[in-house]
Amino acid sequence: MTTFYKWGSGTNPDAPRIEHAHDEFLITAEGERIIDAASGALVVNLGHSVPDVSERMRDQSEDVAYVSTSYFRNEPADRLSERLADLTPDPLSASFFVGSGSEANEAAIKLARAYHLARGNERKETVICRHGSYHGATLGALSLSGKPTRTAPFVPLLDRGPRIPAAYPYRWSYEGTPEEQAIAAARELDRAITREGPETVAAFIAEPVSGSTLGAAHPHPAYYREVRRICDRHDVCFIADEVMTGFGRTGEFFAVDHAGVTPDILTVGKGISGGYAPIAAAIVSKDIAETFDADSDHSFAHGHTFSANPLSTAIADHVVGRYDEDVLADVRERGSALRTALSPLEGHPNVGEIRGLGLMQGIELVANAETKHPFDPEKTVSKRLFERCLSEGVYVYPGSGSVDGRAGDHLLLGPPFITSPDSIETIAETVIEAIESVTGNPVSSGSVADNPV
Ligand SMILES: Cc1ncc(COP(=O)(O)O)c(C=O)c1O
Repeated sequence: MTTFYKWGSGTNPDAPRIEHAHDEFLITAEGERIIDAASGALVVNLGHSVPDVSERMRDQSEDVAYVSTSYFRNEPADRLSERLADLTPDPLSASFFVGSGSEANEAAIKLARAYHLARGNERKETVICRHGSYHGATLGALSLSGKPTRTAPFVPLLDRGPRIPAAYPYRWSYEGTPEEQAIAAARELDRAITREGPETVAAFIAEPVSGSTLGAAHPHPAYYREVRRICDRHDVCFIADEVMTGFGRTGEFFAVDHAGVTPDILTVGKGISGGYAPIAAAIVSKDIAETFDADSDHSFAHGHTFSANPLSTAIADHVVGRYDEDVLADVRERGSALRTALSPLEGHPNVGEIRGLGLMQGIELVANAETKHPFDPEKTVSKRLFERCLSEGVYVYPGSGSVDGRAGDHLLLGPPFITSPDSIETIAETVIEAIESVTGNPVSSGSVADNPV
């Protein structure tokens, strides 16, 4: 029998089967304990098997689990919508609920187009994205993604729009301070809009901190301030994809908060339910929401069977209610402890950069840290690091292809916000030991092994 839910691009019949999980731990069928250092895929923010979430889940399923939102309202969805309006920066005010991050981005793209159309800007249809991005697996979201291993087979089916360089300061060649480089990089957007013709551009979509493709790479906050100015100048919707970064992961409720910038559409998923229900949302500004108000002449013809179902929205409402200033303080403190525990890797000949915000930390591995030359992809460095860490009881999120779609290895670390100080230490020690073992270079070594890996 073939099953398709295995990790990576191939099938892996040897993947551990998880039978139970609690806090930051996964327990296999054989009773082995694995630290979930990536919260699944940066999903399980509050940890596994949180009792009050289970209770809320049971209570709501006893009240009503499903109604069609085409014809009925439901209280949990209304409450979650209000909660999100309170948590997100103004003027974000209304949520469109869907079942996954990909669907949230699909909705966002269509909302941007429908918004311009409703205002008489019929030619605004192009969505600009970035290289090195990931916005989802469905065709619209994949069209906007710069992840060749995922896009290549489907190129004939994709609507590939214009794209600008990745927000990847480690590999930028712009001159000046980090702030000046960030502004120069953001101005690529201005050039792209001008080239396309502003009257044809509907939106720009970006991950404020790049997740699976670039391992927590992020620009100086000036980048997003400049993006905001450019989008305003050209009447282009800025869609911030916070499917991975939303709900405290980076130490602020949303990653755009680090720059003090509000997008026109904010997409969220993963942490919205902390893994307890498949739900995501496109949260839109007041201006966009009012365009599609019940008493306006325009409707937004879009939706899925499970959109805004009471069970998922009740769970998400409960989980989102748990994200407060104390949680943010925990994320900052534990993120900084993780960063400190990883610091022996600074100066390692095969560690190009350790980067990230809060509990979203990435490590880029290179053949030579001085030249930034990546490892030969044939060496499958990130995959081997993943395997080594897993064999030592720590699950990390590996990534490759950040340089040119094939070369470029990184590990992404994003443990649950409740991870204990001991587990943080164990995660760092295991990752360091794996890097030493896979590269053949110990952390104290200043010289590169003759034939690393
Ligand atoms: C930034 C970002 N956007 C969108 C998605 C797609 O979300 P989903 O897998 O829930 O469809 C992901 C998934 O990893 C993501 O990281």
